[in-house]
Amino acid sequence: MRNLPGIRVSAKGLDGARGKAAGKTFHSNMAADSFPAAAMPSAMFPYPAVELAKSYRLLNHGPTVLVTSAHGGVSNVMAASWSMPLDFNPPKVLLVIDRTALTRELVDASGEFALNLPTRAQAQQTLAVGSDSGREHDKFAETGLVTFPAQQISAPLIAGCLGWLECRVIPEPHNQEKYDLFIAEVVAAWADPAAFSAGRWHFPADPAQRSIHYLAGGAFFATGEAFEVSAEG
Ligand SMILES: Cc1cc2nc3c(=O)[nH]c(=O)nc-3n(C[C@H](O)[C@H](O)[C@H](O)COP(=O)(O)O)c2cc1C
Repeated sequence: MRNLPGIRVSAKGLDGARGKAAGKTFHSNMAADSFPAAAMPSAMFPYPAVELAKSYRLLNHGPTVLVTSAHGGVSNVMAASWSMPLDFNPPKVLLVIDRTALTRELVDASGEFALNLPTRAQAQQTLAVGSDSGREHDKFAETGLVTFPAQQISAPLIAGCLGWLECRVIPEPHNQEKYDLFIAEVVAAWADPAAFSAGRWHFPADPAQRSIHYLAGGAFFATGEAFEVSAEG
């Protein structure tokens, strides 16, 4: 067990209903051998449990992206929280695209997509394109999101975003079919120099120009203040 400085959690508070360890106070600075992790009763654990089905929300506030795709004269946009970098060189990303989405059909057919990083000012449109399907809606027309052509792929890019990654799928049929998980190489990347240059984010003061991070139910965070530390302390 790790030492968690100065944190005291009442075991009674965690599991008072069943009366386990009632009235005892668990002190997290307790010696590691006092409670071998495997044997520690759940009622004594120093933190309340997060429902497993909601555990993804602890990681969910990486930047929300808009995924654009196109094939056969049809183009589309959807919101995605589940994307992340995978490799430096050549750069690769991971993205989950649900099998029911029109985006999935277009990406399966074209082998391409773009990740567009929307601003706080585009949060409402982000939620809208993540709530309706392009099968029933022309989401560009309905939301007013404006596009411009990408350089390396057929999917369009969305104007007013902070950054853009043009991606080409590296086929991994097992991951795609079983987990809706796509691996793609980033074949071009662009950024608004007002927010990102020389490899660094430096968001402008205008809060409308921050990247956004989805929680659930229409709730987002905007990126906060930057700060720096040194590994040497
Ligand atoms: C903020 C937000 C994040 C989302 N993240 C994902 C995601 O990572 N992967 C996914 O498949 N769907 C995600 N969705 C749901 C899709 O955006 C949604 O199913 C969309 O309607 C699909 O559109 P399409 O059928 O036009 O492709 C998200 C929705 C919202 C609002």
